[in-house]
Amino acid sequence: MTFIKVCGLDDLWEGEMENFIVNGHEILLVCAGERVVRAFQGVCPHQDIPLSEGKFDGEKIICRAHLWQFDACTGKGINPDDCALAEYPVKIEGDDVYVKTEGVQALFAHS
Ligand code: FES
Repeated sequence: MTFIKVCGLDDLWEGEMENFIVNGHEILLVCAGERVVRAFQGVCPHQDIPLSEGKFDGEKIICRAHLWQFDACTGKGINPDDCALAEYPVKIEGDDVYVKTEGVQALFAHS
């Protein structure tokens, strides 16, 4: 399995996030800066709520359900800090965004 084209850089503006299904994986693409794109699991590790329904303030992804917060550059939990989002490798070639799904699985918290 290799990198799969997901969208163009023009489809995801700085400060935006959007949900995509890639190779059967629900993925949240986040644009945290010019040509800085991260790909995380698309559902909250808490209770399976789509993170794309939450907010992205440019630095943090905030789930709409119980307001858990995640660092948009690393996927690490900020509040609470004992959870994390699984991250997918991203490659930008020209103006296209590619993601690799192989070997990555969504993480879930126990609380
Ligand atoms: S489902 Fe996301 S914080 Fe509870």
